[in-house]
Amino acid sequence: MKNKTNNSINNPMDNIDDWEENLIERYPDPETPAKEKEEFRNYVDSERVDTVKEFYRINHINQTYDFVCKKEEEFLKFDKKEMSLWEAVDFLNTLVDDSDPDIDLDQLQHLLQTSEAIRADGHPDWFVLTGFLHDIGKVLCLFGEPQWAVVGDTFPVGCKFSDKIVYPEFFEQNPDSKDERYNTKYGVYTPNCGLDNVKMSWGHDEYLYQILKDYLPEPALYMIRYHSFYSQHREEDYNHLMNEKDLEMFEWVKKFNPYDLYTKAPVKPDVKALRPYYEALVSKYLPEVLKF
Ligand SMILES: [Fe+2]
Ligand SMILES: [Fe+2]
Repeated sequence: MKNKTNNSINNPMDNIDDWEENLIERYPDPETPAKEKEEFRNYVDSERVDTVKEFYRINHINQTYDFVCKKEEEFLKFDKKEMSLWEAVDFLNTLVDDSDPDIDLDQLQHLLQTSEAIRADGHPDWFVLTGFLHDIGKVLCLFGEPQWAVVGDTFPVGCKFSDKIVYPEFFEQNPDSKDERYNTKYGVYTPNCGLDNVKMSWGHDEYLYQILKDYLPEPALYMIRYHSFYSQHREEDYNHLMNEKDLEMFEWVKKFNPYDLYTKAPVKPDVKALRPYYEALVSKYLPEVLKF
């Protein structure tokens, strides 16, 4: 067994996006032929399966109600850095892959593939912009946050964890599972109180939502805030906390998800050619400087 440093204990995955391989296995593209799905299953690398499982284990143990409150206090002051959206994209792109930088797409390429697929389908410009910026919250990693507090499925804290969340068995070791304030169906919430009143596990989704909440139309904000909330947008296991508006807005979250998951083509987008279009789009909606 390798000698693990504290850093690798907190960050078991070589690449912050390795968990997405597990997502595609859980939720295969309905448009991919069965044969390719089979090939994908054969390709899924067993070492990666282990590191992703370890990633979820520490995520599920550590994402408690109390932990989320502490992270909100720490990060929602927005006193870490001031950047334009472009500086944030460049900053995010300094996240390097420890395993194989040649085969994986960098962060900017993932963003552009997502947004270009949305644009090709003729959606409104704010939807395209949402695709382009939806993962910028991953800069949390560059502020020294562990992987398990940046990426992975998100889920409500403060009430019972759904068994539709990936690897639900790991929640047994989350202290909230034994805390009677938090381990009932509703926990600290009331029936259909609305997601705006529900604390989600801490990660790049909530963080970016909080940064952008004054600048984008509501459906865009829902897509950003809940794009990793698979136990609702795929499994609908938290309907009891949703209000009417949430249900309506989740149609957009569902519409966004396939662009996020299934547009990782090996063809790399032409960053230089696309830049002017995105510059105009970013300046249409966002201020010059954003506070992180
Ligand atoms: Fe994401
Ligand atoms: Fe993404």
